[in-house]
Amino acid sequence: MQLLDGKYISEKLKKQIAVEAGEVLAATGRKPHLVAILVGNDGGSETYVASKIKNCENVGFKSSLFRYNDSVTEADLLLKIEEINRDEEVDGLIVQLPLPKHINPEKVTETIDHRKDVDGFHPINLGRMMRNLPCFIPATPYGILLMLQEYQIETAGKHCVVVGRSNIVGMPISVLMARNANPGNCTVTLTHSKTIDLKKQVLQADIIIAAIGKKKFITADMVKPGAIVFDVGINREESTETKSGYKLFGDVDFENVAPKTSWITPVPGGVGLMTIVGLLKNTLASAKKEIYK
Ligand code: GUN
Repeated sequence: MQLLDGKYISEKLKKQIAVEAGEVLAATGRKPHLVAILVGNDGGSETYVASKIKNCENVGFKSSLFRYNDSVTEADLLLKIEEINRDEEVDGLIVQLPLPKHINPEKVTETIDHRKDVDGFHPINLGRMMRNLPCFIPATPYGILLMLQEYQIETAGKHCVVVGRSNIVGMPISVLMARNANPGNCTVTLTHSKTIDLKKQVLQADIIIAAIGKKKFITADMVKPGAIVFDVGINREESTETKSGYKLFGDVDFENVAPKTSWITPVPGGVGLMTIVGLLKNTLASAKKEIYK
């Protein structure tokens, strides 16, 4: 078993991003600029957004955070998004999910200018992704592709089983792994809550991508010897063992699964760190007008 080391890879890629951010500043007089909108006080979202902002500063990007409390109206939020869309000094805009129930996430996503949609959630970016056209790829799937690339893991012809069909991870990564691209060219099975005999499906996998949001859901009896395992789960539980007051668990029972695998991502220290890199790379690509002119 070998670890897919998110810490090592993310630090390496962030150094390259910082160099390119410096080149953008020298050429344009402007740093790449990411705007984040955070609604409410969800503990997980607070942590993720704080980490995105901090990482922007570390690689030489400008970042701005607009905070709203839970009671903000959908109309006010959409107005703010439209204002940021028009701001030529902004390269990327993300609205952290989940949103309060009275706000329609589809409306929010579609209001963001697709040329600034560095989360890659807008239907135009998702459609372009399916057609293998230049687009912003959702950050977590992008992070997984970058890990496969960095470790030079061959994916062509392999059977990839994705567990979970979320808009953010499961659905897009299943498309990306099936695309005629490298990484890609997998035979993909997308499993979900209605899948019959999930264990039988997962046991077929050369590559398992676990994105179901349930602690230790993938157990050793579900894993073929030699499989490659990506654990996307970030399940937070309160804990007295850590300084932060909570502990993270993946979707994979790491202790028992890891010895059976050829490669596996830890939690924390795996895919989560790569998600930030995906977001930074999309923001940089936007600043350099690499995707949309
Ligand atoms: N919530 C969980 N993951 C994400 C993400 O990648 N982007 C945004 N905007 N919200 C999220």
